[in-house]
Amino acid sequence: MASERDSIEFEELTTGSRSSDIRKLPVPRKGYDTCILHMPKPKVLLSAKKQGIARYASVLPVGEIPFSLGEGETPLTQSKVFPDVFIKNEAMNPTGSFKDRESAFALAYAKEQGWKDLAMASSGNAALSGAFYARMYGIRMTCYIPKDTSKTKSQMIELFGGYAHKVGTNYEESYHYLLDHLPSGSVNITSGVFSLRCEGAKTIAYELWEDLGEVPDVVLCPAGNGSALASIYHGFFELRQWGFTDKIPAMVCVQIAGADPINQAFDRGEWITVLDDVPASECEAIVAKESFCSAKAVNAMRQSGGFGISVTDDQVIDGLRFAIDREGIFPEFSSASVFAAFLEHTDKIKSFGEKIVLINTGSGLKEIDLINKALQSSGR
Ligand SMILES: Cc1ncc(COP(=O)(O)O)c(C=O)c1O
Repeated sequence: MASERDSIEFEELTTGSRSSDIRKLPVPRKGYDTCILHMPKPKVLLSAKKQGIARYASVLPVGEIPFSLGEGETPLTQSKVFPDVFIKNEAMNPTGSFKDRESAFALAYAKEQGWKDLAMASSGNAALSGAFYARMYGIRMTCYIPKDTSKTKSQMIELFGGYAHKVGTNYEESYHYLLDHLPSGSVNITSGVFSLRCEGAKTIAYELWEDLGEVPDVVLCPAGNGSALASIYHGFFELRQWGFTDKIPAMVCVQIAGADPINQAFDRGEWITVLDDVPASECEAIVAKESFCSAKAVNAMRQSGGFGISVTDDQVIDGLRFAIDREGIFPEFSSASVFAAFLEHTDKIKSFGEKIVLINTGSGLKEIDLINKALQSSGR
């Protein structure tokens, strides 16, 4: 097992709401996202006239979000079993995952920059979502996905007009392939390289604050690269910075046991850990040897007083059954990890405060075969 102990330097940039205000983003070291953007306090945070993430256009670093495909404004439902627990259902986004928030921002930004050709590595959801939004802007999207990516996800990329290249046996291989072979004239908007993706996903934090009337005490989020977790933290950080709240929830990073580089880095007091070997897992969206937003995710956990929970696939199956049977929610396999983490560590999580939010990052509808097989073979 190799590790990186050297200290990380975060590049902190302050910018306005136009991409022309943004100084050239630093290229992340070895493809690790270490860039944090700061927006000035807005005169008005929320625009009732707009839809989707564009409601928060005043704090997004782009001139305009020309349209919404219905991303964001996802339901926050109260748990049917634990009254203090709320589920933020990102499965209700247009392509079934929180990635639509990132795409809505990234493609509006790409349009503004005049980029015509984009590339990204993905375990599936980011790519199909990127292709969906890119099509609306007439931008070409080439996606590099692992060979075993579930059939439905790779079909959706093609169906939405993207180009799906299957390279590598896992996400990291697809990612490194793209870093080494970025086609000329193409812009890489992969999470880990393109820091601005966070600007779309941070709107989850704003919506939680809006819906609950305050920020929650604890937020559990599945993590692969750690970008979603870092983005949500970033949204809360900004709300506190601007004086809308005085606290930030404890951010809990949920990963797969043994394929959990962020949680291992956090436990060892490091920023980044690269694992040599990871167990096979059905959680294709979060299983990780290397997490390219690790430093930002570890920072979120440290600064918020959070921690990591690593769960096994077996526990994820319990989480999935619980979500379906008791909550009426149908998560993607990877997303069911937060239900598993909560069930396994209920007392510890509750000790952090009363209002707990589980982020259901994606829909199980893209993985029906996998989910059926997993439930049947486990007899659950
Ligand atoms: C459904 C789902 N949940 C969680 C994640 C993990 O997000 P991140 O890589 O930002 O940690 C992904 C990433 O693709 C995903 O598709």
